[in-house]
Amino acid sequence: MTSIDSRVGEARSAGPSVQDLLAADTRTVPKSLLDSSYVPQGLVDVPKTRYTDHSFAALENEYMWTSTWQMACHVDELRDPGDHVVYDVADQSLLVVRTREGAIKAFHNSCLHRGTKLRTDDGRVASFRCPFHGWRWDLDGVLVELPAEWDFPQVFGHPDSCLPEAQVAEWCGFVFVNLDPQAAPFNEVAKKMVEHFGRDFAMANRYKAFHAVKEVPANWKVVMEAFAEGYHVIATHPQILEFAGDANSEYSIWEESPFVTRFVNGFGIQSPHLGPLSEQQVADAYMAFSARSSKGAIEVPEGKTAREVVAEVFRSAMAPIFKVDLSTVSDSEMLDAHLYHLFPAFAPWAGVGQSLVYRWRPGPTPDTCFMDVIRMMPVPDGEDRPAPAPIQRLRLEQSWREAEGMGGLADVFEQDMENLPKVQLGLKMTAKRAKQGVSFGAYQEARMRLIHRHIDDVISHGLVADGRDLSELAPFRIPEG
Ligand code: FES
Ligand SMILES: [Fe+2]
Repeated sequence: MTSIDSRVGEARSAGPSVQDLLAADTRTVPKSLLDSSYVPQGLVDVPKTRYTDHSFAALENEYMWTSTWQMACHVDELRDPGDHVVYDVADQSLLVVRTREGAIKAFHNSCLHRGTKLRTDDGRVASFRCPFHGWRWDLDGVLVELPAEWDFPQVFGHPDSCLPEAQVAEWCGFVFVNLDPQAAPFNEVAKKMVEHFGRDFAMANRYKAFHAVKEVPANWKVVMEAFAEGYHVIATHPQILEFAGDANSEYSIWEESPFVTRFVNGFGIQSPHLGPLSEQQVADAYMAFSARSSKGAIEVPEGKTAREVVAEVFRSAMAPIFKVDLSTVSDSEMLDAHLYHLFPAFAPWAGVGQSLVYRWRPGPTPDTCFMDVIRMMPVPDGEDRPAPAPIQRLRLEQSWREAEGMGGLADVFEQDMENLPKVQLGLKMTAKRAKQGVSFGAYQEARMRLIHRHIDDVISHGLVADGRDLSELAPFRIPEG
């Protein structure tokens, strides 16, 4: 990452930086938020075909989705022995299960007889029985029944008759899986995320209060990238400009933990795109939007900022709802969006109160994907963990507004959704005279370039390991520099 000119991406928007906002916070700010870093990723264009071409999607499916850490479910969905979740990604499927001893294991979800997918739905079972001829495995993946056993002398009792396993890791209640037995350990790959959340953010004490997954008509990277910068706010969500610091958002890339990145969007300040607004105007606009006016008007006293006043309103409004003490929580955690990203496609919000979690997976063609939106809520002080919300599944043509409990977030999401099929269509225009690449910003979109470079790395590593020719990747590869 260091071969690129270090001056590239040094320019920044007008307006206060996120670090300026943290310095003015009325409470002690978590150390993790002060830990920001940027590593230049150059200026080269990223080939459009990476988002649209079937051969590139096939390379991603074969090498990337089979060798990276991905969030499969939450431990609350695996409370009792036999509870299992089917995690499908690209052409792969895993059965993530709670064993009788209380461990969590992930098995390849494919019968060792003739390949049948063993389970298609989440649920609770005593064992996994193939629906085709009835081969049966226990919760530890050991083959315990095989009708007409006399006809399979090569199978029964043989060590290879166990269901193959994937690697499993747990982070803040989420279960991660990795199909590659050689993959580096989760804690190493997710270093910054593990360190920051472990020290400063209460994700582990949250429960899943909402979960919807929707098929979206664009490539998984298009959709993921639409949630990875504040740059699109000016055109896509202009209704929040009066109280969102869009262009002066902060983007972090850490040399020592290159698979984790972060995007911080300050709220309770005006966008640098607008002419000067008073603190009162910023606070009014923010309150009208966030509470949908339920709280009514608030006054920003002389010498105070909209941020500190709105943060205080949020503290007193949210504490009784979440039944947690928020008195020492920083303004930044009350207001701002702190969105981490773990390569390839997991993005949890940090901060207090509710936390959103996003996940993306490829669809059946490069032109669609699945996006999960999960809302994690604090477990009320002194109460048991509530049961996790069931997953609501939305088809391609459905709207996020049909997801029960998504609230006002659905309207903002629908604004994003309107762009996505148009992006996918425009990316297909690669005729001779057409522009062939996507031109990311040097700073605001640097993380996207980095993620694309990781994809190239993991695919080339896989091709070499399999003795295949790197020329298969060549047409799609991001040039150096
Ligand atoms: S395919 Fe599973 S038992 Fe035959
Ligand atoms: Fe958006």
